[in-house]
Amino acid sequence: MRKNDKRKSGEKTVSSVTLLWGGRFKKPLSEEALKFSSSFDVDKRLWKHDILGSIAHAIMLGEAGIIDASEAEKIVKGLAALMRDIETGEVALEGSDEDIHSFVERKLRDYIGETAGKLHTARSRNDQVATDFRLWCRDVIRQLAEAITRMQQALIDQAEKHIDTLLPGMTHLQHAQPVRLAHHLLAYFWALQRDLERLMDLLPRVNVSPLGAAALAGAGLPINPRRTAQLLGFSETAKNSMDAVSDRDFACELVFICALTMVHLSRLAEEIILWSTPEFGFVTLDDAWCTGSSIMPQKRNPDIAELVRGKAGVVIGALVQLLTLIKGLPLTYNRDLQEDKAIVFNAVDITLGSLSVMSQLVATATFNPERMRQALTGDFSTATDLADYLVQKGVPFREAHHIVGQLVLHLSEKGKGLEDANLDDLKLLSEKFDADALSLLVPEKSVERRKELSGTARRSVQRQLRQAKAKLERTLKWLRSFPTISEQIQQVLGK
Ligand code: ARG
Repeated sequence: MRKNDKRKSGEKTVSSVTLLWGGRFKKPLSEEALKFSSSFDVDKRLWKHDILGSIAHAIMLGEAGIIDASEAEKIVKGLAALMRDIETGEVALEGSDEDIHSFVERKLRDYIGETAGKLHTARSRNDQVATDFRLWCRDVIRQLAEAITRMQQALIDQAEKHIDTLLPGMTHLQHAQPVRLAHHLLAYFWALQRDLERLMDLLPRVNVSPLGAAALAGAGLPINPRRTAQLLGFSETAKNSMDAVSDRDFACELVFICALTMVHLSRLAEEIILWSTPEFGFVTLDDAWCTGSSIMPQKRNPDIAELVRGKAGVVIGALVQLLTLIKGLPLTYNRDLQEDKAIVFNAVDITLGSLSVMSQLVATATFNPERMRQALTGDFSTATDLADYLVQKGVPFREAHHIVGQLVLHLSEKGKGLEDANLDDLKLLSEKFDADALSLLVPEKSVERRKELSGTARRSVQRQLRQAKAKLERTLKWLRSFPTISEQIQQVLGK
């Protein structure tokens, strides 16, 4: 250990007790260098994962005969007591420690004395931090999946209420064809479903144990990495110790999934912002989910949705931060990697928070079917149905498209919409039109013509709802089989 010899220059230095290293140094570390390099403020939230990893490691060391069984037991009991005391607030996550690993070892010494020094046998902070981080990411996969299902449930509930609500479906933000509101809302269900499936797909790549890699080359003592992996619920062990300590792909993938989920939420937020303007008037947000103005008393602003849209940019930035952090690193562990956690924590916190507020905002929103229906009058959104009619009478689609285009021009010049057209208007452009064509110009008929698998007909949307509910059920079942970090701890402690 370093001697705490104050330098003649008066530079402040660090007391040796807080550092896990120092034997080979003549002078102590400067306080400023410790402050600059400490990650404790950020990685203290890994305390449960760190203690859990250490419990598993100590059990394995005892079983492998690397430390005495009685010492292993003492360490495990000490760690369990520390975990309990942090949980109850008896022990505060405070100190000038370099990181959570140093904190835990220092505290353990308070409980069991010098035996604490045996915990770090055949382990490095390099494989330890990768283990903690993977355990944390695994738990976050569960939390994100849960949050996504709540968002999906809110969309399903609103869709069920609005199967018969019609509105103009848009392309280029221009009225295109009538659709059911349920159909529109469920589009977001499927985008989120893909995010969920990406999380499920990521799990096996997160759930790999780096323990046994030690610093980089593997442990020099006869450890049993399979046993620690099994205790921690990892499904496999890393195949290459150098990769094990330097790989952060799992974190990049997780942040990418967060970024894409945020992009989906942001698009929904944008539509809600637009729809809640008086010009649209398609939706009214619940008082609890919109805000006022400090100067304009009449205002009801969609700030929550705007913040979700804004925060999507922050999470996209986090992905770039993380990839940039890693891209220039030679194998294996480099201290740069310490910056990974703040980036990932931020991205995950924002995504969880956004999913939570958006699901409540959607669940409590009131959609306005009259305004939506009104927007379909005079908007020519059934023009394609008329072209399809001519196609069924043998007219090539390109020609049918042109004829209906001319009709739209003719009617709009007269200040009329398609629903105002009479048979004479139609006949003027094609002899193929008969009276039955007029019935097509109603949006309610237009949606019903779209019965194919993914279309907006009532039957198709109902089938889609059933499929969405079945997917949700499957996810909930998957989640029920997913142990929480606390359940994993109980299991390791044999309770
Ligand atoms: N705080 C470090 C991190 O988050 C832990 C590993 C430190 N390892 C080392 N060799 N300095 O990456």
